[in-house]
Amino acid sequence: MKISYHGHSIVKIQTNGKTILIDPFITGNELTDLTVENEKPDVILLTHGHNDHVGDTVAIAKASNALVVAPNELAVYLGLQGLNTHGMNIGGAKTFDFGTVKFTKAFHSSSYQTEDNEFIYTGMPAGILFTAEGKTIYHAGDTSLFGDMKMIGERHPIDVAFLPIGDNFTMGPEDAAYAVELLNPKITVPIHYNTFPPIQQDPENFKALVKNHAVQILTPGDTIDDSI
Ligand code: NI
Ligand code: MN
Repeated sequence: MKISYHGHSIVKIQTNGKTILIDPFITGNELTDLTVENEKPDVILLTHGHNDHVGDTVAIAKASNALVVAPNELAVYLGLQGLNTHGMNIGGAKTFDFGTVKFTKAFHSSSYQTEDNEFIYTGMPAGILFTAEGKTIYHAGDTSLFGDMKMIGERHPIDVAFLPIGDNFTMGPEDAAYAVELLNPKITVPIHYNTFPPIQQDPENFKALVKNHAVQILTPGDTIDDSI
């Protein structure tokens, strides 16, 4: 399994001969090393409907015919635009040929803003537990700190956790450091920071706040050590 980070909340996982892209916000993301033209994933996983997460899903999925797995209302909305979608909801898991996806609670909001400034309701925001090759990856999506993170970590021992640290819209560094204690992952990677002025953070500050757990700060394009 190869797991890489690409700025904001974009994570790419290569496993079982498939490429999976989470929250592919490329256009307007000055931190990412990806281009819309070069991405040909087999699967796109979406945590919620906000534009900095749905991002370039429509263009990428139309070009690659990727399966888009998303919270149900968001999946229906994207399906109406001609994408191949699969809708799920909080607490539900499904095993696909590329791995198992389970949507978890995230405490946030969720809507999609169209070019005409209409707001489309896109269901509940989610975190994603992805399991393949005996490894479990938790992408928290956008969320506050919440106590059920302890339950998530106990029921699904986490190898790698991607946690937002940007503050303002999500957990900040202090709450995210507490989330690491609740989730107890082997490795934590901070995400969702420095993309926009309200979410400027020094990830080294977050790393210093985390006690007794490993934090890997990844520059966009970096891959997690294969040792997990
Ligand atoms: Ni959001
Ligand atoms: Mn966001």
